[in-house]
Amino acid sequence: MLRLSYILVVAVVAILETARAHTVITYPGWRGNNLHANGTLPEDNPDSHGIDYLENGTYAYPWGMQWMYPCGGMPQTTNRTYWPVSGGALSVQPGWFPGHSKALFYVNIGIQLEGQAAPPNMSHPVVPAFQITGPDNNEYPGQFCLPQIGMPANVSLQVGQNITLQVVEAAQHGAALYSCVDLTLVANNDPRIEEVTPQNCYNSSDIGFNLVFTTQSLTSTGKTSGSSRMVAPTMLGILALAFVAMGGALL
Ligand SMILES: *[C@@H]1O[C@H](CO)[C@@H](O)[C@H](O)[C@H]1NC(C)=O
Ligand SMILES: *[C@@H]1O[C@H](CO)[C@@H](O)[C@H](O)[C@H]1NC(C)=O
Ligand SMILES: *[C@@H]1O[C@H](CO)[C@@H](O)[C@H](O)[C@H]1NC(C)=O
Ligand SMILES: *[C@@H]1O[C@H](CO)[C@@H](O)[C@H](O)[C@H]1NC(C)=O
Ligand SMILES: *[C@@H]1O[C@H](CO)[C@@H](O)[C@H](O)[C@H]1NC(C)=O
Ligand SMILES: *[C@@H]1O[C@H](CO)[C@@H](O)[C@H](O)[C@H]1NC(C)=O
Ligand SMILES: *[C@@H]1O[C@H](CO)[C@@H](O)[C@H](O)[C@H]1NC(C)=O
Repeated sequence: MLRLSYILVVAVVAILETARAHTVITYPGWRGNNLHANGTLPEDNPDSHGIDYLENGTYAYPWGMQWMYPCGGMPQTTNRTYWPVSGGALSVQPGWFPGHSKALFYVNIGIQLEGQAAPPNMSHPVVPAFQITGPDNNEYPGQFCLPQIGMPANVSLQVGQNITLQVVEAAQHGAALYSCVDLTLVANNDPRIEEVTPQNCYNSSDIGFNLVFTTQSLTSTGKTSGSSRMVAPTMLGILALAFVAMGGALL
């Protein structure tokens, strides 16, 4: 017999899912809707591993699918998106869940080598980690867009190769939400690449950015002994350059 709490959860989830029937990685696409939380409530299920394997062969995610490494509970897809071999745009909606007035973002790629069915890891960062600030800790709309992510200099990627782009959003308490999109790399001017426009690639005015970096290299100046700090919000691109210049000057 279904308990009342379970029925209530199902009803609430159904309502939330209707309200959230949108994407999180809005460009260049995503594996699919993983904004689901279902199953027995966490407070009623002390034995939960985070993913519950049910007797009838289905799964439940009492904490939510997006917490599952590496891709928020979604297996690799075959409806891949074409993306430039030298890197392209990424648009993300960060505010689907409460608690994201601040969040850390990591963007990585997993590289599938010839003969591999899937990438062996998601261990290639493609932008320095950065922090976003949102309007408040409730769910909020809006997105940010990095118009040109570069590819790591020390990996060689070929036209036709499959990679997976992974976006990690760490909430203020440190837990991380995962989403991915599966890509096939094509020539930078390939017409199959969805055009990057002000409609699909923009920054909402109430989402800000902070660059995050360690101050290990700064200790030689005697300026700080903290392990890390945030710098004032400004253009990530400029900061990325400053970061490189600073590392070069102070190392
Ligand atoms: C792939 O298909 C799934 C299931 O229809 C869909 O949710 C997802 O958005 C698609 N992904 C892309 C990149 O088209
Ligand atoms: C599997 O069991 C769960 C819990 O009883 C139920 O909610 C779900 O609908 C079932 N799924 C299928 C495919 O039978
Ligand atoms: C929980 O949600 C996932 C994703 O939508 C679904 O695959 C699974 O069957 C659901 N589990 C139950 C018990 O409804
Ligand atoms: C890339 O993925 C597609 C779709 O899954 C597949 O058909 C194709 O063979 C893969 N290409 C390579 C080079 O692995
Ligand atoms: C991650 O995968 C790449 C291939 O995509 C491989 O070259 C690299 O050694 C792997 N890194 C680790 C830490 O396993
Ligand atoms: C590329 O460089 C990064 C940063 O120095 C390093 O962590 C990574 O292991 C290198 N990857 C390969 C495939 O050499
Ligand atoms: C959004 O802001 C980031 C950080 O300042 C910047 O790198 C990026 O270019 C901006 N995106 C657009 C579309 O202007």
